[in-house]
Amino acid sequence: MEVYRDFYKKSIENPKAFWQEQAQKISWHQFPKTILSNKQNYPQWFADGKLNMSYLCIDKHIEDGYGEEIAVIYDSPVTNRKRTITYNELHSEVARLAGGLHKMGVQKGDTVLIYMPMIPQAVFSMLACARLGVTHTVVFGGFAPNELAVRIDDCKPKVILTASSGVEVDRILPYKPFVDSAIELATHKPQYVILFKRLLGAVVPDKEYDIDYKSLVTASSEIDPVIVEANHPLYVLHTSGTTGKPKGIVRDTGGYATALKFSMGYIYNVKPGEVFWAASDVGWVVGHSFIVYGPLLNRNTTVLFEGKPVKTPDASAFWRIISEYNVKSVFAAPTAIRAIRKEDPDGLMLENFDLSSLNYFFLAGERSDTATVEWLTQKINRPVIDHWWQTESGWPMASIMTKIDDVKIKYGSVAKPVCGFDIQIVDEEGNQLPDDKEGFVVVKLPLPPGTLMGIWNNEERFFSGYLEQINGYYFTGDGGFKDSEGYLYITGRVDDVINVAGHRLSTAEMEEVISSHNMVAECAVFGIHDEIKGQTPLALVVTKAGNDVAESVIEQEVIAKIRSNIGTIATLKRVIVVDRLPKTRSGKILRKLLRDIADKKEYTIPSTIDDPEIINEIIQVYKQHKI
Ligand code: COA
Ligand code: AMP
Repeated sequence: MEVYRDFYKKSIENPKAFWQEQAQKISWHQFPKTILSNKQNYPQWFADGKLNMSYLCIDKHIEDGYGEEIAVIYDSPVTNRKRTITYNELHSEVARLAGGLHKMGVQKGDTVLIYMPMIPQAVFSMLACARLGVTHTVVFGGFAPNELAVRIDDCKPKVILTASSGVEVDRILPYKPFVDSAIELATHKPQYVILFKRLLGAVVPDKEYDIDYKSLVTASSEIDPVIVEANHPLYVLHTSGTTGKPKGIVRDTGGYATALKFSMGYIYNVKPGEVFWAASDVGWVVGHSFIVYGPLLNRNTTVLFEGKPVKTPDASAFWRIISEYNVKSVFAAPTAIRAIRKEDPDGLMLENFDLSSLNYFFLAGERSDTATVEWLTQKINRPVIDHWWQTESGWPMASIMTKIDDVKIKYGSVAKPVCGFDIQIVDEEGNQLPDDKEGFVVVKLPLPPGTLMGIWNNEERFFSGYLEQINGYYFTGDGGFKDSEGYLYITGRVDDVINVAGHRLSTAEMEEVISSHNMVAECAVFGIHDEIKGQTPLALVVTKAGNDVAESVIEQEVIAKIRSNIGTIATLKRVIVVDRLPKTRSGKILRKLLRDIADKKEYTIPSTIDDPEIINEIIQVYKQHKI
């Protein structure tokens, strides 16, 4: 462990020398020499003194003569709008917004929070921060004011950039009132809120801290990129962990740029000038890496889709986007495909679209079930590649690297480790396990470029949660196994994190919220199988003695509490009142047992169980509630 602490320290103390030394040594597992030694060698960017993400994503392409190529396609079926933005236009928008922020006193070393729907201004805001060397923290729109307040207090932003509203299918979501409530709840108060007014929904009265986005950009002049060191934190992105408090994953600049450029070419196999689409949201890591920074670094056209796989207006939305914009590679969550398949099981809608531009369809974010992958493969007649990564890694850890590997797909597997990641399967003591034996999926240290630098404001949690679980390895939190050909299979999380419709949620956080309900004595939340969303959270609740309120009332109140405290994406649909919860003799709730019984999986009753009779009680309760 000390080796990694030392490695980590050196990388922070003298990043330029550090990255140059690493590039020479090529110490990363199988990281191809060609990547690090060719002309576009990224450590070279540091030597050029031009390391700025906004520069690399925009100005560099303009200097190279590609200013009139399309950088962003904005397609919004929910507002009936489409817009294309060239690299020159992107430059003008971003450099002026950065100029405006600069005038307001925002500078390198500051943090800025972005809470926006899928509109071009979200991309401009991220790039404007990067241009100034300002660390941004983007918060996904599905989070409630309370979650927003937690992130405000963690990152202490000088400024918040937001929009008046978002649109969920046909519902207008009030973003600005959420921001106002969050500021009231938070201890830290940002100086300004830059508000992009959309002509949607009710007009909310301005607050004294509001600055109009459009007026600011119009009145500001362009500003040049601020040079940053390789390890300068480009962003903090919060993700769910095993406690009630989200973790702010810190991403560097130089290593990340290296990793993303590599991913665009070697994994997604798109050439500069081609169209790439990640059907995700800027609030998630996929949005950061593969809607914004990756494609723009690689001079691709990125698609910003403000819609859903279904209902905007129907299950043909994905096929329309691919054919209309000649998408070469696409990336989506399996949930989206399951939702499309449910609406259009025979894929009849596909027949109306020409998908000839498409080379590969990538899936990630949650487990892909074979039936969905098979269906998609058959319908589009293209390789469907399940690949695996997480907010912490910032880029794929396992995939088929389509540019250099044979595209040999094994259903159920996320393919092989991507170069840079030495992935191993170990037991609790860190012993390597043989082929086909399930264990913890870990990555041998050191990690390659682009992976997390730490946890914002919480270095100890970084070490204890990731680096000190299994000595010498990064602990991914996932379980799985490898087969004899080295293909990796991810079987699920080994901690209290669940994945609902591709959204990562903490059951510990939900339990904390539910426990604060005045009628609840204790509770257990765990993910159970869901046909469309992969998993869905289920809460078992023990009420306080003397409580005679109807179960349905408790259920409604608990659901409402979760929605208002965490957000609508924490889609707790079922709450069941039970007399007691299964526990070990030392009082630990047996959540895995509860989940396995609900999913009708084989289960073993732990010998440490306090009272085995409770199993029958739980089975009966599940039967009554049709679980
Ligand atoms: N802003 C605000 N609210 C949001 C939101 C956002 N960006 N995204 C989702 N929500 C809300 C939804 O409106 C819904 O609210 P409701 O319960 O009041 O109806 C709730 O959060 C749950 O949404 P979701 O889990 O998305 O379920 P759904 O039934 O509305 O939609 C799918 C189902 C499959 C269409 C949808 O989950 C989907 O598109 N999934 C793909 C996810 C994805 O791409 N993830 C990327 C990770 S790589
Ligand atoms: P997030 O940080 O939100 O991207 O979620 C990361 C987690 O999602 C991982 O730790 C896995 O548990 C899960 N995950 C991501 N991709 C896959 C995949 N292809 N197969 C199985 N699980 C996945």
